Amino acid sequence: MARSVRVAPSILAADFAKLGEEVEAIDAAGADYIHVDVMDNHFVPNLTFGPQMVKAIRRCSERTFDVHLMIAPVDPILPDFVEAGADIVTVHPEAGPHLHRTIQAIKDLGRKAGVALNPGTPVDAVLPVLQDLDLVLVMSVNPGFGGQAFIPEVLPKIAALREKIDALGKPIDLEVDGGINPETAPQVIAAGADVLVAGSAAFKGGPAAYADNIARLRAAA
Ligand code: DX5
Ligand code: ZN
Repeated sequence: MARSVRVAPSILAADFAKLGEEVEAIDAAGADYIHVDVMDNHFVPNLTFGPQMVKAIRRCSERTFDVHLMIAPVDPILPDFVEAGADIVTVHPEAGPHLHRTIQAIKDLGRKAGVALNPGTPVDAVLPVLQDLDLVLVMSVNPGFGGQAFIPEVLPKIAALREKIDALGKPIDLEVDGGINPETAPQVIAAGADVLVAGSAAFKGGPAAYADNIARLRAAA
């Protein structure tokens, strides 16, 4: 059965000197979600956007803002990202002591909740809360940087999650993030993914290439 596949360009690969224009351009090129990689130089070895930046670019697109928080501890800053305009808020299980509580906090703030699994984090880490989620993100690189090589060992995790999500019968996005390009996309889609995060592959070549970049990723389905 053909599953509809959505593309979530990661603005980590955009030109930060003109981030607003980049968000407008990737929206116009057909992005389904705007994927925002928030890094704290503590949970991951890199530092990117804060809530003020999210608020500023929120004006540039009405697409779903898919905010991937690589922050620990994450609980204290959740309201700031919600206030800034995040639609989906995704956290890592390692980012706090009480994953269930964190997810309930996101939902109490009126937003969709996601959990991200690092390549070394097992599927089991998300199963106790799966029924409460709107999205599961399978990292296919170690978080912290764009442009890394896809780790194929995560494919069985995607397949296992696809089975669990289908068994629940709930509309939970199964998103894959890291090293996704027209060559790796067919593999993750075959395994059961339905949202593709792409940084380098979406933003390569500048704005004139974005629509084609996104179309190629979508065509992988
Ligand atoms: C890594 C981020 C990814 C990354 C993807 O920590 O979560 O979203 O930007 O970039 P590419 O597609 O270049 O691997
Ligand atoms: Zn991400």
